[in-house]
Amino acid sequence: MTGYDAVGVGGRDLAAGLDFLLEIRDESRFDWLSANIIDPKTGTPLFKPFITRQLGELEAAVIGLTGPTGPAAKPADGKVVIQPWQDHLPSIIEKLADSHAFIVLLTDLGIGACREIADAFPAVNLIVRAGNIDSGAPPLFLTDNTILIGTGRKGKYIGVLEVAWRTGAGWRTGDHQALTAGKKERSRLLGQINRLEGRPELKDHYEEIRTRLASLEITIEQLEKKERSAAGTVSSFDNRFVAMDVSLPDHPAVLDLVDENKRSVSKMNRRSLSAAGAKDGVAARGFSGWSACAKCHRQQVKTWRASRHASSYLTLVEKGQQFNLECLPCHLTGVDPEDPATAMGITADLQAVGCESCHGPGSMHRANPAGHRTAPVKREICLGCHTPEQDNSFDFTEDLQRLKCRS
Ligand code: HEC
Ligand code: HEC
Ligand code: HEC
Ligand code: HEC
Repeated sequence: MTGYDAVGVGGRDLAAGLDFLLEIRDESRFDWLSANIIDPKTGTPLFKPFITRQLGELEAAVIGLTGPTGPAAKPADGKVVIQPWQDHLPSIIEKLADSHAFIVLLTDLGIGACREIADAFPAVNLIVRAGNIDSGAPPLFLTDNTILIGTGRKGKYIGVLEVAWRTGAGWRTGDHQALTAGKKERSRLLGQINRLEGRPELKDHYEEIRTRLASLEITIEQLEKKERSAAGTVSSFDNRFVAMDVSLPDHPAVLDLVDENKRSVSKMNRRSLSAAGAKDGVAARGFSGWSACAKCHRQQVKTWRASRHASSYLTLVEKGQQFNLECLPCHLTGVDPEDPATAMGITADLQAVGCESCHGPGSMHRANPAGHRTAPVKREICLGCHTPEQDNSFDFTEDLQRLKCRS
């Protein structure tokens, strides 16, 4: 639907086995690329190693390389082997470099490998890398000839990279990076303004962001002017990352699709992680649940029970999402994000953003209040859940006042 030409096959794409992946490949209207996923029986690649495209005047090529990490490192069905990129890339580059002025690499290899590739193969001009990367970050200059951009995790950002490529001239640095950063900040501020509009109680905050935006506009204009006067002597790019956050309206048809998918994930989890099978890892890590605090902190419990934190699990239940592991760490207390399945055996008074979500595990304190003080609640604790993606108008000072936890 978005008009992709090609997708690079990553190690994790093989998580459900090769047959599953080939089935969706065959249903799609774009190419799936990997030069180093090999059929062990025939020794040949299972996907196209590269494609070529005429882009205006430019002969361009797109290569796919798969990293050795993820479940694919040892695919359970033994139907594929991921060979080292070193075994395949050199011969492909040799084939393409002379006839193709612009070469793109799609990969989930680590940053270290990407640097090695940029150093060894200046013909690779752009690396688009999937994996753990600072989402929405401006492109990274690996060399004068090669830039790297990250695509952000789990499709949560859409990236647009416009390229004005001059054969023989490298990329530019300096002002352009400042401009890219400025534009990124501008789109962040615009998102905040969107959220704050129509909220008179946050008027001061709104005005402050407006002022910041106005001065940023001036800086951007000056940088753009400089850039225009230098244009035509170097290659350049312009990138925008658009966060798929709450400020963007959902497309109803896509939302239905996503909701349906989430419900089926939740259902599958309910089946595979029956409460009996899951150990109660939460209690083991020292969490008590809010009712254990009630005896001594009645005032806090009373205010808290009226807050949205207290009903955060109900929110999931209403959406049929209480078995979706992805939601649990932020909507329940004490869930280990690395192992959210342990929350399946959780007691009812941990089914909320409870006291211990902010104050930390309380078993020791409860037994000996003066001997085991709780740690101060820092901003970072809130930000662990109030991420920009979930809540892009979070303001520690303001939101803290709404909690009214101090007696
Ligand atoms: C464990 C995750 C988590 C932590 C930690 C957390 N929150 Fe929340 N917060 C949530 C969730 C989830 C909701 C929404 C609950 C719902 O509506 O179902 C929420 C809602 C809120 C709301 C209500 C928002 C509204 O529009 O009414 C405020 C205010 C708030 N949080 C402030 C804070 C502050 C301040 C901190 C840190 C001191 C904090 N939160 C820490 C998860 C968390
Ligand atoms: C990174 C932490 C985090 C994760 C993961 C998370 N949430 Fe939330 N959720 C929050 C916070 C924080 C809020 C409160 C946002 C606000 O105050 O605007 C919230 C609010 C909500 C709300 C009520 C607010 C609204 O926009 O209507 C719903 C519904 C919700 N979450 C559902 C889910 C579901 C379903 C999942 C899993 C697919 C999920 N959340 C995963 C942190 C999270
Ligand atoms: C969303 C985070 C959050 C949750 C949930 C939360 N608190 Fe707090 N609590 C705080 C913060 C932050 C403070 C520091 C006081 C302040 O600045 O508001 C605080 C302060 C306190 C204090 C010290 C009061 C004082 O006067 O100094 C107690 C006691 C307390 N909380 C108990 C609880 C109990 C019991 C619960 C559960 C019913 C709870 N808190 C839930 C964030 C939270
Ligand atoms: C047996 C009574 C008792 C229970 C149960 C209890 N507390 Fe406390 N709590 C206290 C006392 C007493 C203090 C004051 C300690 C002091 O000032 O020496 C305190 C202080 C606090 C404070 C202020 C900071 C600090 O540590 O001094 C927080 C926050 C807090 N408790 C959170 C909790 C939470 C969360 C729970 C539930 C897991 C809980 N308490 C259970 C008695 C209790």
